[in-house]
Amino acid sequence: MMNNGENNMISDMVVDFSEAISHGMIVSRFAVLVSKELGLSDEFCDKIAMAGFLHDIGKLRISEQLHLDRSKAMVVEKMKYVRMHATFSRDILAEQGFDGEICDIVYHHHENNDGSGYPCNISGDDIPLGARIIRVCDVYTALISKRSYREAFSKKVAVELMIEEAKHFDMKIFLAFLRVLHSEDNKSIEKLLEKSIEKDAADYFKKYITGETNLTS
Ligand SMILES: [Fe+2]
Repeated sequence: MMNNGENNMISDMVVDFSEAISHGMIVSRFAVLVSKELGLSDEFCDKIAMAGFLHDIGKLRISEQLHLDRSKAMVVEKMKYVRMHATFSRDILAEQGFDGEICDIVYHHHENNDGSGYPCNISGDDIPLGARIIRVCDVYTALISKRSYREAFSKKVAVELMIEEAKHFDMKIFLAFLRVLHSEDNKSIEKLLEKSIEKDAADYFKKYITGETNLTS
């Protein structure tokens, strides 16, 4: 029998898992469209599709630990820990034998164009191209998504917020992203958003936890 604390922790992990699946699918789709808009090769698009889907996989490694500490005010420590997810994502993919370029993209997906990001504080062209593309798509997707602690921003407000923080982005990529956003292709992403993938993923994960199904069936 699980106690209340364990139940709360599992509920939080279900939210993390379902948000990660939904977020990964949308970032991946955006990243491919932006890469195509920039005239990048099919081979590159395949790699960025994978990196876009899996860039936050390291968060699942820290999910349990974060929620175990829910009663304590460990804000700074938690933030430092959360920042480790990019390294964990890279490590998990490298352990699984993923292509080195995909691992590099994932490792650097929180670097900012002005050098203010993490984990390496690199800037401009020193940041792998794929990571610069994921950065733009990741920020936008996070802003337009509802989170457990806030409502989703509208598309218009999300773009305005990104323009205010434009120094974080490679301008050529940000402009390509805006073109994608206003193109017909964006409709396929809006359909993904409407499908409430998060709810489907959460239902599936809950069944997995309670033993009603397994993840490979
Ligand atoms: Fe991330």
